[in-house]
Amino acid sequence: MYKRMITFMTVCLSLIYAEEGMWLMSQINDLDLSDKGFKITADSIYQTGKPGLYNAIVWLGGCSASFVSPDGLLLTNHHCAYAGLHRASALDSVDYIRDGFIAANQGEELPAPGQFAYVLTAIDDVTKDVLKAARYAGDLTEREKLMDKKCTQIVEETEADRDDIHCEVVKLFEGSEYRKYVFTKYQDVRIVYAPPAAIGKYGGDTDNWMWPRHTGDFTFLRVYQGPDGTAAKYAPENIPLSTPVWLKVAQQDLSDGDPAFIIGFPGTTTRYRTANDVEYTLHKHYIPMIKKYRDLLDIMDKVTLDDPESAIRLANLNAGINNVMKKYQGNVDGMLGTHFIENKRREEEEIERYVNADKKRFKRYGDIFEGMSELTGEREAFHASDEILDAFGYYSGILYYLADYAYEVARERAKPEADRDPDFSEKRIREFVEQLPNRYLGYVEAYDKAALTYTLEHARSAPAGFNYFQLPENPAAWVESAYRGTKLKDVAYMQRLFGMRASQIEELSDPLVRMAVSLYAPKFEKKERLRNWNARMNDLRMRYIELLRSYRGTPLYPDATGTIRFTYGTVKGYTPRDAVWYKPFTTLSGVIAKHTGEEPFNAPDALIAACRQGDTGNWTDPELGDVPSCFLMTGDITGGNSGSAVMNRNGELIGLAFDGNYEAMTSDWMFLEEIQRTIAVDIRYVLFITQKVAKAQWILDEMKIGL
Ligand code: ARG
Repeated sequence: MYKRMITFMTVCLSLIYAEEGMWLMSQINDLDLSDKGFKITADSIYQTGKPGLYNAIVWLGGCSASFVSPDGLLLTNHHCAYAGLHRASALDSVDYIRDGFIAANQGEELPAPGQFAYVLTAIDDVTKDVLKAARYAGDLTEREKLMDKKCTQIVEETEADRDDIHCEVVKLFEGSEYRKYVFTKYQDVRIVYAPPAAIGKYGGDTDNWMWPRHTGDFTFLRVYQGPDGTAAKYAPENIPLSTPVWLKVAQQDLSDGDPAFIIGFPGTTTRYRTANDVEYTLHKHYIPMIKKYRDLLDIMDKVTLDDPESAIRLANLNAGINNVMKKYQGNVDGMLGTHFIENKRREEEEIERYVNADKKRFKRYGDIFEGMSELTGEREAFHASDEILDAFGYYSGILYYLADYAYEVARERAKPEADRDPDFSEKRIREFVEQLPNRYLGYVEAYDKAALTYTLEHARSAPAGFNYFQLPENPAAWVESAYRGTKLKDVAYMQRLFGMRASQIEELSDPLVRMAVSLYAPKFEKKERLRNWNARMNDLRMRYIELLRSYRGTPLYPDATGTIRFTYGTVKGYTPRDAVWYKPFTTLSGVIAKHTGEEPFNAPDALIAACRQGDTGNWTDPELGDVPSCFLMTGDITGGNSGSAVMNRNGELIGLAFDGNYEAMTSDWMFLEEIQRTIAVDIRYVLFITQKVAKAQWILDEMKIGL
């Protein structure tokens, strides 16, 4: 009986984990693709040191994209090109987000400031090197430090201070493996076609994270190289990059039940954490952050009410905050509204029983759960003051944030490069400083002041003992006078600040700089304390993953680390609530049905006209009798995957992943087989819009469509 139960459990588990996973390139071979209905072979997708389909997949630094022509034409999401569009808009005083941009021909493509494209050139397993570097470590903290140092060293040696090489060394399974990814970094990326927001962001934040969806979330970019073939910065004489591996568009219509796979760059997941971690994040992070985001958005609304120019400048920040706020809300709803945490706890209880059932196992893993609880408690004790410190940063206005960072840079620079935090190598600092003018395109003084005032007001709730500087009685008045006195509004001055020594910065009388200097010591203390905490926690987490591997008896994929991954599944709908079945396709008629004429459901006239006149070219799906708009599939993705190519059984392009569904928002913590879906924009919708609405036949010709 017992044995039968085990078999039954294994079967259930392998079913549960069937389509779960963001797999490393080196793991694709173990997935048995033909068994899952794929004609394309693992080898033609990826083989060490050989060209493969994966060469068409590009990292945008936070998003994914793919080459779709031999001349560097890149397809990604509209929301991935958003920052570049917003900066180009601020420079040209044209609202490219609202109006879109279409180049009449290749010569007229629009530079996207600060938009880079990272083309992968090598993946290496560097586990041995990294582990070896820490073999004589005295304790866990030292071990972590030595390993970090080794990773920094590998990055620096690989990049060799070259602007065109970017390297990432990532930790997998909390430190039992390490991988090195090498990229060519292209800095001249231009916008070819971005649809207007009324297509590219149709449904806006109302529909964001939701199904049924009708967003044409795509943009065409192009990667340029210098005439000599180097990855040069923008110059008018640059030429399109030749890209021998590029994705061909599917020849056949896509249907419900078809197999599909995705390759992209998922950001972060926390799939191997415990219920305690979930609860901590829920109460200490998600819930308070939602309130803060709401407040910041209200402030932004006030500032931009009658000021469209400011609205453009803040558009990117606004979209980012809205997006993450809804994601957190979805997590809260998912965690509190379902048995999410209980289910996780139940699994942990079973795992504990599994550990206790065997002496050897108990010896190796018996301390894990208790150790983790203790560490969580330890962290909780510092939470209130840590949270105040953290608030002085990215969300407290650009000027304070940069002053704070400039001083940290100066302090790090006092150390030899090899001992620095990896983000503070000379090259990373240089790259950061170079991008400062782009950051200033998002600067709006009224908002900046209000955000800092908000932070200071919040700091008044700090626990006793938080006395790193004299909190002003009247934050708004203090901020007003600080902004009158500060030189930091001038980007050239800010660039100089990043070149100053710590002692020089300490002598400045600039009020924002003074505040940054006084917060440095507690922030540094916190960073060191967390480092030590992480080292101890990582040791437990690493062994926990080892334990899960043995308990589940199935291969594991590492948590997402912003590096290239493969996931597969099928085109499939889902049940969001009792008795309701969501079909996997939406259609052009559905786009029109949502149209109210009011933002965000304001479909452009050209789109409505094309639909009314039946001018839909070859893009009607015979089964749907309509042009498909978006579709669902069961692949396992997360933020960062946005813009990833979705491919069919032959490895041909069928769409772009751009979202996840609200019902499965807790998916970063646990894969939810029944309800978790990837939302993709159908390639047929992309091409319909490009051909019939933008009338850019030349792009289709370049993609060799219908030829
Ligand atoms: N939810 C998407 C993601 O995180 C981003 C969608 C952007 N669209 C929007 N309406 N804000 O990948």
